[in-house]
Amino acid sequence: MADVVELTDAHCDALLRFFGDLPEGDRTFIREDVTDPDVVRGWAADGTSGTRRWVALDGDGAVTGYVAVLRLPGWSDHVGEVRLVVSPAGRGSGLGGELARHAMVQALEGGLTKLVVEVVAEQGAALALFTGLGFTGEALLVDHIRDRDGELRDLMVLAHRVGETWAGMSAVGLDEALGDSS
Ligand SMILES: CC(C)(COP(=O)(O)OP(=O)(O)OC[C@H]1O[C@@H](n2cnc3c(N)ncnc32)[C@H](O)[C@@H]1OP(=O)(O)O)[C@@H](O)C(=O)NCCC(=O)NCCS
Repeated sequence: MADVVELTDAHCDALLRFFGDLPEGDRTFIREDVTDPDVVRGWAADGTSGTRRWVALDGDGAVTGYVAVLRLPGWSDHVGEVRLVVSPAGRGSGLGGELARHAMVQALEGGLTKLVVEVVAEQGAALALFTGLGFTGEALLVDHIRDRDGELRDLMVLAHRVGETWAGMSAVGLDEALGDSS
């Protein structure tokens, strides 16, 4: 299990290095300008927006994964949007699932009742990960984004009603994550 901690000032340089090393296509999943040091430092300082962010750290303090839950504003403030990325070298060993489960548990404990995540339709890994955690397709936005080559791609919105699913949590390992949560 990786060390998953809430983002603080102390992690900002390591997080900037992590984002800087990502292929450009992966950075687009985060949507904020993650190469701008002021943006990333602002995240750690921001305790008011309802957004929570966590990083996975290796033994040397390098960031190997990032997950955030952004609380939507106004009449959707019961909904959180998940953004998740794992370093290319660290993929396929369970870290993405661990970060996603951590974010789900924290979102539940923080009072959110619904989570959504936007996934590019071709992103097999992200689709497998989130559907495995109980997310289901809620919208398909056709030709909604352009990739780096300018090609139009479909975007899927997956959703999970976390508040309704306490009973089913053991099926996706959330009960274990709850035991670990801090
Ligand atoms: C999606 C992403 C976070 C997955 O991270 P990861 O650490 O490789 O994920 P895991 O190792 O925990 O795998 C999670 C599940 O996805 C499946 N999976 C992983 N890579 C896969 C692939 N290339 N194709 C199909 N399924 C895959 C695994 O089988 C696993 O399921 P299992 O636990 O039942 O075996 C990572 O690929 C990534 O950062 N992608 C770019 C950003 C992105 O797409 N973010 C999601 C939208 S915000």
